[in-house]
Amino acid sequence: MEIPQNIFRTKSVIEIQHELAAGASAGVSLKRHLGATSLVLFGVGVLIGAGIFSLTGMAAGQYAGPGIMLSFVISAVACALAGLCYAEFASMVPVAGSAYTYAYTTLGEFFAWIIGWDLVLEYAAGAATVATSWSAYLMKFCEQLGIPLPVQWAASPFSVMTSPDGGQVHGIFNAPAAFIVAVMSVVLIKGIRESAMLNAVLVALKVFVILSFIGLGWSYINPANHQPFIPPNTGEFGHFGWSGVFRGAAVIFFAYIGFDAVSTAAQEAKNPKRDMPVGILGSLALCTLLYCAFAYVLTGLANYKEFSGLSGLAPVAVAISHTPYKFFTLLVELAILAGFSSVIMILLLGQSRVFYSMSQDGLLPATFSEVHPRFRTPWKSNALFGVLVGLFAGLVPGHIIGEMTSIGTLLAFVIVCVSVPMLRRSMPEAERPFRVPLVPWIPTAGALSCLAIMVSLPGETWLRLIGWLLLGFVIYFAYSRNNSRLNPASRGR
Ligand code: ALA
Repeated sequence: MEIPQNIFRTKSVIEIQHELAAGASAGVSLKRHLGATSLVLFGVGVLIGAGIFSLTGMAAGQYAGPGIMLSFVISAVACALAGLCYAEFASMVPVAGSAYTYAYTTLGEFFAWIIGWDLVLEYAAGAATVATSWSAYLMKFCEQLGIPLPVQWAASPFSVMTSPDGGQVHGIFNAPAAFIVAVMSVVLIKGIRESAMLNAVLVALKVFVILSFIGLGWSYINPANHQPFIPPNTGEFGHFGWSGVFRGAAVIFFAYIGFDAVSTAAQEAKNPKRDMPVGILGSLALCTLLYCAFAYVLTGLANYKEFSGLSGLAPVAVAISHTPYKFFTLLVELAILAGFSSVIMILLLGQSRVFYSMSQDGLLPATFSEVHPRFRTPWKSNALFGVLVGLFAGLVPGHIIGEMTSIGTLLAFVIVCVSVPMLRRSMPEAERPFRVPLVPWIPTAGALSCLAIMVSLPGETWLRLIGWLLLGFVIYFAYSRNNSRLNPASRGR
């Protein structure tokens, strides 16, 4: 079979910069409202979520013990290497398409399409996953307040739940998950300013709770719980010892998912050349510090063995039970509800912005890039994803969608890392307001470390990724290739 050469056509950086300028002067583009602080808050808003609250204790109990702090550092290094590459591209080509557009300028249209399609797994599937967790915490929170909600309306039809009277019931629809997706979509439609404001409030609440946990818990730490720092390996790969620390890093990678969504807001940043690197790398640095301090206190309050077999918020509740502040568990739940809401909102923002760029390039129908005349947001895209992601979160069990998110994200990171040295070679003279140091070593290390984490994911997650990409190939060859604006036959359509 012959591969059609035009599928590797590239879009030049100069062309993208001209399009940006033309869109801005015609007043049909997205609104430039975000400064450096809003971008850092966007990053923190999307990073702090299920990962830190639900996975830290579970991963410490099963894989790494107190060494989970090292797992956070290892994952942060992999993300920082990729983050540096994102920062170079986002300051150079400040458009909403993020990794999709970066790949378009280097690897060509086909790879760009693959990445755009793959990002649906990170953003839309990620938002659906976090929405199902949000629903579970809402149920728990309401139950503790003495207002139990009907369990069958908080689960997918494919799940069997235990009702408060101990009986087994089949789920009907996860209504709270669909509800939170709908609410966040409405905020996104309303405007980038409103979204940034709501995000700032939600971030303030979750950071306050994490800092309080660290501050109040610190004096109750039992230093003996941190010994041995890396418990000896049980004889099974990935269960304590160094292999456990690395397995822990792959598991808590979820806590770092989303920092790249900051780069999808590049077209809405006031000064992207300066502020994109600050937003991406600043939020990553801030969250790494918070994560390590949180993990230090968590594994210092209780022995990691107490977390064994626990999931969700249970390890945090166990840690809190070693302090006099038992009420704090309720506050953590509140922070989780607020925290997950902003994660969902920014993942949905990222999704609509990537499809906005793909639609502008002709690879997707024009509906996805229609900007509301007053709100200056891609409102039809936000509304459509509000419905689709809401339905998905309502009907599909959370764990199936969740496994897809990490692999999709890592693939995008690998492609962005690979693209940096390629563009350095093909366009050495282009202006780069932020430059990755030590090219090609840092991008190569970034790509290899992300690949290493990908390899540690289960085989069936790989199969699902391949299935998803095959579906993408069909759409590309049936629609996108012909409608691409780089296709001479489609010009003027
Ligand atoms: N990083 C986000 C979380 O931990 C996706 O929920």
